[in-house]
Amino acid sequence: MTCADIRSEISRTDPLVLGEMNPDDFVKLGDSNAQPAPYKSVSLPLLDAHRRLRARNALTAAQYLRYLTAILLDRFSLDDSRVTLPDSVKGLYPRELVRIRAQLGCCDASFYDFDVDPFAKDFALLTHRFIPIGAEFVEPDATVPRRPLFATGMSSAVSAAWLMLVRSWRLQTVLLSACSPAALHDFNPEGWRDSYHRLADLLAANPRVRGVTSASWFLDPNLPAISPHLAYLRDVPEQAGAKFFFSAFDSHGESGALAKSATRRVLFEQARYLPAVYLRVWLRGDVLAWSRANQGREGEGFFQ
Ligand SMILES: CC(C)(COP(=O)(O)OP(=O)(O)OC[C@H]1O[C@@H](n2cnc3c(N)ncnc32)[C@H](O)[C@@H]1OP(=O)(O)O)[C@@H](O)C(=O)NCCC(=O)NCCS
Repeated sequence: MTCADIRSEISRTDPLVLGEMNPDDFVKLGDSNAQPAPYKSVSLPLLDAHRRLRARNALTAAQYLRYLTAILLDRFSLDDSRVTLPDSVKGLYPRELVRIRAQLGCCDASFYDFDVDPFAKDFALLTHRFIPIGAEFVEPDATVPRRPLFATGMSSAVSAAWLMLVRSWRLQTVLLSACSPAALHDFNPEGWRDSYHRLADLLAANPRVRGVTSASWFLDPNLPAISPHLAYLRDVPEQAGAKFFFSAFDSHGESGALAKSATRRVLFEQARYLPAVYLRVWLRGDVLAWSRANQGREGEGFFQ
């Protein structure tokens, strides 16, 4: 679906709106440089314009975001990246851009909304605030949230103090990583291994970045007792020096832990499984050391 197709669809479904908000003026509000760094954030002028359109008609608002997406795709250039991208990471962009373009023609209008997390992630990718590394994406220029590090009492607090004060007192700029349900092609042990190598490449190319942090239900140390096939998601970074901190229980089952697993859903309903979100903090030196030590060991299994 091209920009012209989307524009003519807007003029067919809501002809009056074109006189009130030129789609190209809307696109100017979506300029990459105007967007705040956190991937979920959207500049206020763009958010305001989108809210006004949504209040008028949800379909029209979705069409404007579809149009913005199509223009950003046409203009996308890796030269605009906010960080130095290694070749291993650059090589992942074509498939993401192809995926986002294919969605233009098939995704339901309800997908095109800033409140829909997979859309917010695609918009962040197109505005250079979300970088693909394979199984997950990283947000540049993030900081480690301090609060969850001290949420679980003394042993965690001691561990956190050790981490923050002794080893990483200079930890300021980090990468924040997250998955996107729209892009799970590499969500398997080999895909994650390759992603950690790309993460190391990215850190090596950006010396000011002190490490990487992320939070998920699949980092819960109690998860392997229920889903042993997911143990690698915590085991590998942990063996490579990453530290984990309890963040929150997910008492409403909204973290994604129950979405795909009948086993976890049944145990949750029986009050025998409560998803818990853990924060992972992985310092650059440890990621780089893991990558160096594991170069060329692809055939040896993931749990070395
Ligand atoms: C995170 C996620 C991609 C992991 O998927 P996964 O590696 O297939 O692992 P899951 O345990 O979630 O798998 C779901 C079901 O598929 C089954 N399964 C997984 N791999 C399988 C395989 N190779 N063969 C057969 N069944 C398989 C699992 O057994 C599980 O069912 P069960 O728990 O009832 O036995 C998936 O849980 C998901 O999409 N969750 C929702 C969104 C989310 O939280 N995403 C986080 C990242 S954005």
